[in-house]
This record gives sequence, structure tokens and C-alpha cells, in this order.
Amino acid sequence: MRMTQTSDLWWKNAVIYCLDIETFFDADGDGVGDIAGLTERIDYLAQLGVTCLWLMPFYPTPDRDDGYDVTDYYGVDPRLGTHGDVVELIRTAKDRGMRVIADLLINHTSNEHPWFQAARTSTDNPYRDYYVWRSDPPPDTSDQVVFPDKEDSIWELDERTGEWYLHHFYAHQPDLNIANPKVRDEIWKTIGFWLQLGLDGFRVDAVPYFLSDVGLDPDEQEVDDPHTYLRQMRAFLGRRHGDAILLGEVNLPHEEQLKYFGDNGGDQLHMMFDFIAMQKAYLSLAREDAGPLVEALTQRPAIPHDCQWATFLRNHDELTLDKLTDDERAEVFAAFGPEERMQVYGRGLKRRVPTMLDGDPRRIRMAYSLLFSLPGTPTLYYGEELGMGEDLAAEGRMAVRTPMQWSDGENGGFSTAPPDRLVGKVVDGGYGPQHVNAAAQMRDPDSLWNFMRTLVLTYRACPELGWGELTVLDQPRAHVLAHQLSWEGSTVVALHNFSAEPVTVPLRLDVPPDSALVDLLRDGTTDIGPDGEVDVPLEGYGHRWLRVRRDGERRLV
Ligand code: GLC
Repeated sequence: MRMTQTSDLWWKNAVIYCLDIETFFDADGDGVGDIAGLTERIDYLAQLGVTCLWLMPFYPTPDRDDGYDVTDYYGVDPRLGTHGDVVELIRTAKDRGMRVIADLLINHTSNEHPWFQAARTSTDNPYRDYYVWRSDPPPDTSDQVVFPDKEDSIWELDERTGEWYLHHFYAHQPDLNIANPKVRDEIWKTIGFWLQLGLDGFRVDAVPYFLSDVGLDPDEQEVDDPHTYLRQMRAFLGRRHGDAILLGEVNLPHEEQLKYFGDNGGDQLHMMFDFIAMQKAYLSLAREDAGPLVEALTQRPAIPHDCQWATFLRNHDELTLDKLTDDERAEVFAAFGPEERMQVYGRGLKRRVPTMLDGDPRRIRMAYSLLFSLPGTPTLYYGEELGMGEDLAAEGRMAVRTPMQWSDGENGGFSTAPPDRLVGKVVDGGYGPQHVNAAAQMRDPDSLWNFMRTLVLTYRACPELGWGELTVLDQPRAHVLAHQLSWEGSTVVALHNFSAEPVTVPLRLDVPPDSALVDLLRDGTTDIGPDGEVDVPLEGYGHRWLRVRRDGERRLV
């Protein structure tokens, strides 16, 4: 195997872990998680085997969208720490073999950003063109709003100048005018600044939204194709830091996502989340039928070599099901979030994985085994490794943004502040820290945490999963996904049973004579017949990862 490739394009088989500093660990006891606290807990993440941290926004903010509303791109939210703390964090993470990326929020700023404050003072203010304005009354855009519970238009009237500004998200998040070269210069500087401080790239927020604004002002425009902007961004990144990545949030059908990877081996975003496979995976879990996921995987278009899918089951937003049909979404709602208080924006769920799967350890483990076995780079959202639950009483997406549960102590070990001073309420009840916490699970060899750790480490030892070519294997069981990933002459086969019924899966593999299947997540070796046939038993909601061992091979496993 050409293992050296895997360190050059490190992100093609990284294990990404997303967290929000303010809810992770509070080192100074003021009730708000901080950068120093995260630095203290870096070893926890190293022990789990994480190789890349994704930090949710830590910039100065009025915090009306949990930090996705920034007032200074070059700053650090003083509640969380200082630039010095950021540097120490990055340095410590690197020492433990972890890279660090952070959210890049260039679709919009907060309306409290000094640029917007200046822009709204008069139509001829020099900052006016940093944002997108219209002077004639806007048409009905209620079908384009992202947060339909709060907004009914993507244009907001600014009383003082009598014009409307564009905001795809909340009205307090005016969209930047990316067509303006001055704004683009600010963005280059922002990217350059954080790379210089040591970041290894960015999770790029809301990509299609800011790209759609690029063409708005034909006079200012340097280029016709908005994607040129993404090409310039990747090139800029490469010039400043050859190792750095752009991981884009592009929730679009696969075919449209292709445009965002670009051509020539991949010259735009390095990575994109696979929202389609994620949504179809939930449909498969709900139906106990691998079919929808198989469809998503087999219809995934081939992507350029220097590009990658990021796979995930959960993130900090609602579990969006916006790309399913109404009937499909209703099926997933019925299975995993039947009550209205579990649903949000009419399109998603505000629950975490374990509660959706009724706390059934077999199903939870099967779901995460599936995640790590899918072709791509798995992304975890903090607390998933413990099986944390949500706080349905919290508003909207805040339900899944509760403090990290470290121990069964006060505030789940998150903070020593009085509970009423915490940045968010700790989950209570059956998923509270008494029952779900890191300290206990790290000591218990049979815990979910240790299971996840095994998945992480095994995934890392199977570059086939991040790099390989996918084949969905033909077999007769509709509730089973059997797939294989092959890379550089090596093959991993994974099987997942979406139903409670134990089953034996007959496979026919294209392998040389005298090959065998070696279990990677447990002990066991199964001989493969002379024509490549092999029967693989699976428990109810069972999962197996098997590597093909060819006769005479000198692999360790
Ligand atoms: C992205 C983020 C979301 C945020 C929105 C506006 O979709 O994931 O949390 O609210 O952008 O920045």
C-alpha cells in the first residue's frame, strides 16, 4: 500500500470531532466553557483517537445564533479566552497528533459588526457595499428563508435609509456582498490570519448562500462564474498553508455538489458533508431496509482525487431531513421523532442518535459502525462518543448543544459554577451525567466510549475506508447493507443488519483462491470458498468489518 499518500492528503481518512468551546469544559469556573478548558481536555480527545478538531465559532459575538453571528473576524470571544489561549490550544493539539480547523463564516456578519453599523448609516457610506441592498420593495421570499419560525423574508427593511438588506438566515445576520473586492480582501486576510496562528483549515459555513450572492453586482464583478471564487480560495489556502482544508457545508443533491469540488483533480472545496447519505441512512434505519442508503451510496458521483466526502450522523444543527420526500420525512419523523416537540422547522429533528434509537445499544453501535465504515471521513459531534441525549425543553437546535458530560459530579463535571450560571442546562433524567458520562465510560471496557474508540482506531488502520473504491455487494437480504472498499490491492468488507432478526448473509467475493476474511472489530477468521463464496452470520442489528486476507499476505490483520 502506498501509505505515504495518506499523510499528504491527511483529511481523506481523518476522524473529525466537532465541538463548541463554550459547552465543552469550563476551566475558570464562570459557567462558560473556555479555550483553556478545551486545552486541558485535549488528552481526552487524543485518547479517543480524534485526528482533527473542528471548533465551532469562537469569535466575538452578540450570541444570537450561538456564535454564527460574528462582530470581529480577527477576534476571540472574551468569554472564551484570548489569542494566546488559541495558540496554546493549537500547539497542544498538534503535539497530540491533532489538527485544528474552525468555522469560517463569510456569508454574513452580525448586524452589530462595525461594518454593518457603518453601512446602515447612509447609502453612500464606504461600507455600504459590504452588504447587499435593494431600494425597491422585495417580492415574497418566504419560501427561501432558512428559519421559517422566525423569518418570513430574506430581505429586511432598514428604516434609516429606507432600503432592504439581504439576509438568508436571521434578520440580524446581514449577508456580506462577496462580489465586492474589498470584502474579498477582508476574507483573504481573515483566512490568512487564522492560518498564520496555526489553524489547518476551515469548515466553511453556508457555501451555496454566499456563492449565490457573488453575481449580484455585475459592475463590481471580476469574474462571471461564482465558482471562480472558490477556486481562488483553495489556491490562496494552498499558497499560505499547503496542508490546510476547506470543508464545506453544501446541503445540495450530489450532482450539484460536484460543482463545488471543481475540476482538474479537485480545485474548489476539499471536502463536503454528505447530507444526502446522512438523510437516507436515517430512512434506512427507520424502515429497517438498507435500500435508501444503498441508493444514496451508489448514486454518489465519482469525485476528483483530491476531494473527499465527510460523513456524519449528527451535527450541531437540526437533523435535517429536507432532501427526503414529504412521505419519507414523515416515516423518519414517525420512527425517530413522533412528537412535535422533537421536530423543528418542519424539516428536522432536535434529537441525538441514542434517544432516536430508543437507547438500544445494539442499534446505536450498528449506526456508528455504519458511519465509520462508509466511504469518507467520519465526523463526530461532541458527546456522541458517550451516547449523550438532548434537552427537548431547550429552544430549537439548542436541544443538542448542552454541556459536555464529564463525570457524575455537579454539572456533569462541566463547570464548578452554580447551575443557574451555566451557559446551558445540563441534560437531566436518564441521559443525564449520572448515567452518561466520560469518566465512567472510559473505565468500562464495554462502554459505548470504548466501542467508539475501537471504531476510530480501526478506521484509522483501514485506509481502504477513506480512500477506497466502493462496491455494494449483491446479496439477498434487503435489511442488510454489505459493502466493500478496495484500495491499493487491499479490501475491507463491512456488513450491517438494519433489523432485529439475526441473519446469515451469503456473499460472493472476487478474491484469489485461499483467501480468508479476518474480523477487524472482534476475533475471528472465516475461510472463503474456492469461488469466492462465504456466508457471514450477523446478529440482530449486528455489524462486522472484515478484511480480505489473501494467501501469503504479510499484513498484521
Ligand atoms: C449554518 C450553521 C448554522 C447557522 C447558520 C447561519 O447552517 O450550521 O448553525 O445557524 O449556518 O450561520
